Amino acid sequence: MQAIPSTCRHLLSLTDLAAAEVRALIARATELKAMRRRGEDYRPLRHRVLAMIFEKSSTRTRVSFEAGMAQLGGHAMFLSARDTQLGRGEPVEDAARVLSRMVDAVMIRTFEQETVERFAAHSSVPVINGLTNRLHPCQVLADIQTYVEHRGDIGGRRVAWIGDGNNMCQTYMEAARLLDFELRIGCPAGFEPEAGLLAECADRCEIMHDPVAAAAGADLIVTDVWASMHQEDELATRMAQFAPFQVNEAVMAGAAPDALFMHCLPAHRGEEVTAAVIDGPQSVVWDEAENRLHVQKALLEFLLVLGR
Ligand code: CP
Ligand code: NVA
Repeated sequence: MQAIPSTCRHLLSLTDLAAAEVRALIARATELKAMRRRGEDYRPLRHRVLAMIFEKSSTRTRVSFEAGMAQLGGHAMFLSARDTQLGRGEPVEDAARVLSRMVDAVMIRTFEQETVERFAAHSSVPVINGLTNRLHPCQVLADIQTYVEHRGDIGGRRVAWIGDGNNMCQTYMEAARLLDFELRIGCPAGFEPEAGLLAECADRCEIMHDPVAAAAGADLIVTDVWASMHQEDELATRMAQFAPFQVNEAVMAGAAPDALFMHCLPAHRGEEVTAAVIDGPQSVVWDEAENRLHVQKALLEFLLVLGR
């Protein structure tokens, strides 16, 4: 099937951006946040439409993209795979060609990374990865913005990822390479990130099977659920395997004294993180969640206004 020779930019992975572009997006996100706080009317996306395809559940991703488009003067359209022809087997390539003739950008939350890549290859408008089993670039952009706002540049810092070598962990690996920080991954044996990605990021990322050792001296501690949305049937067995990898006060105690704690949410208190940590003074999870709105507005502006 012939792909559309695409001239537009996509965000399928953080590696679609140069380091300087990530830094510019984050600075712009902080500026857009201040503009919103001041009540400034800024609507560069008037009459622009974002289609949002969800094959998995979402609170933050849906609300932040929908609110962000409205604030920028445009419109967002929620499309559940279940209620569209995609859910009845229409080829992704056909959906991409049709939707991209009608809307100005498409955000997709799905299972396989290959699905967003096939969609983008046949789309004449920018495609944004709103989470796949492999990557979650929008969330890591918000995390970096949050770190920068609280502590300054993340370059040269030590980040500890505690838990599953999942989509968030793998996007942190891409970020470590792009923005030049050290990533220590404390995961149970058998739950490491993809070997190929690990080999590519070997100069920035190290696997440790001990959460306390991984967190030692870290400037930022990050965790996520023990079973992602496509793994919910594994939850019972994972609970036992991941129990020693809970982020609790003992893990935080070995980190740098001013270390921050992040979690992309939704969180399970008493599983991957204790209430004392996520609701404690080092946690910045609410800023992190809010920044999804600002950084995605900066991304939409970058793809739809500046990219033309
Ligand atoms: N963090 C995140 O992507 O949240 P949702 O699943 O609610 O969109
Ligand atoms: N790793 C989680 C992130 C949810 C935002 C998942 O994929 O379900």
